[in-house]
Amino acid sequence: MKFTQGVSLKGNNTLASDVKAAYFVSISREVDLLRALKERPLALPCLVMGGGSNIVLTSDFDGVVLHNAIQGIELIREDERYVWVRSAGGVEWHALVQWAIRRGFSGVENLSLIPGTVGAAPIQNIGAYGVELCDVFVSLEAIEIATGRRISRDVDMCEFAYRHSVFKTEEYAGKWIIVSVTLKLQKTPRYVTGYGEIEAELAARKEELTPQLMSDVIVSIRQRKLPDPSVLPNCGSFFKNPIVDKFELAKIKGTLPGVINYPLDDGRYKLAAGWIIDQLGWKGREFEGAKVHDKQALVLINQGGGGKAVVNLSRKINEDVFAMLGIYLEPEPQFVGRKTTVLL
Ligand code: EPU
Repeated sequence: MKFTQGVSLKGNNTLASDVKAAYFVSISREVDLLRALKERPLALPCLVMGGGSNIVLTSDFDGVVLHNAIQGIELIREDERYVWVRSAGGVEWHALVQWAIRRGFSGVENLSLIPGTVGAAPIQNIGAYGVELCDVFVSLEAIEIATGRRISRDVDMCEFAYRHSVFKTEEYAGKWIIVSVTLKLQKTPRYVTGYGEIEAELAARKEELTPQLMSDVIVSIRQRKLPDPSVLPNCGSFFKNPIVDKFELAKIKGTLPGVINYPLDDGRYKLAAGWIIDQLGWKGREFEGAKVHDKQALVLINQGGGGKAVVNLSRKINEDVFAMLGIYLEPEPQFVGRKTTVLL
């Protein structure tokens, strides 16, 4: 465990934003974390980073980056139907998915290939293809940066919602490090196949459905649509899909009659932000060092201008969306400036 000064974070964020951290420390054991919290330059702000896949670094960071690299996956309990699996926060999310699939455990196949670490997964309640982390989540353990105090939070205490949890609110954001997450997985698979192209893709494969096949299908759909960050630096969906009430939907339909919308249980509607951005003509457009991805308009690419350029592009898009539809697209990733993280 060693604090290094003036470290470039380019290789630590999938947007490849080339900014520096005043101090950087990578932590691979929990004991080192507690030591690092005591020995860090106390006056400086801290930023916890996992895989750096949902973060927009807009300038050098005048603080301490704590890189959570704590490893380990263990089966902690089982009964006839379920297994309880605890993973350390620094494990790559997809490595945990593969660990489960290799053992025939089901529940996270649809979340295959999501970039980032296990410790970051609860913060935004990662989700894809009809499954969200909260569907399999049991609890997490976290350590408070200011005090080293350890807490445990179960599913209800995390207040999960669409791309949201209590860890995104002012009370928790940036103040805790998630050191482990416990999931409950099924021994007998229950597949979620209703979303988008999954069924067509499964039919084309003509194989017996297993957690491995389900994962392979998800991986191939993702690879078709979402750019590989090592080739085209990006941080996944840049915007959340907006949720509107029926009056707002009716108004938006006046401008975009075909707007793709999914009714929610609470009577509101989730709109496909990618479709909207696409309709407004932004797909493939470049703006001062950033670009809207050619195949999926929700994804913004760093074309050399870094996090700042990507944020500027997102503002241009939002100006258009607001002028046309009267709504604002909320960014999905966390924005980080010189001294602090910016809450959204
Ligand atoms: N669409 C377009 N043009 C585009 C993009 C999308 O017409 O440029 C249309 C699609 O054809 C589809 C609809 O819009 O009919 C929705 O698109 P898609 O199914 O690709 O999903 P999404 O709403 O764009 C969400 C998540 C993704 C997740 C996929 C699959 C959000 C913000 N994004 O995307 O999550 O992988 O569903 O479940 O909820 C992420 O969070 O980083 C992420 C990639």
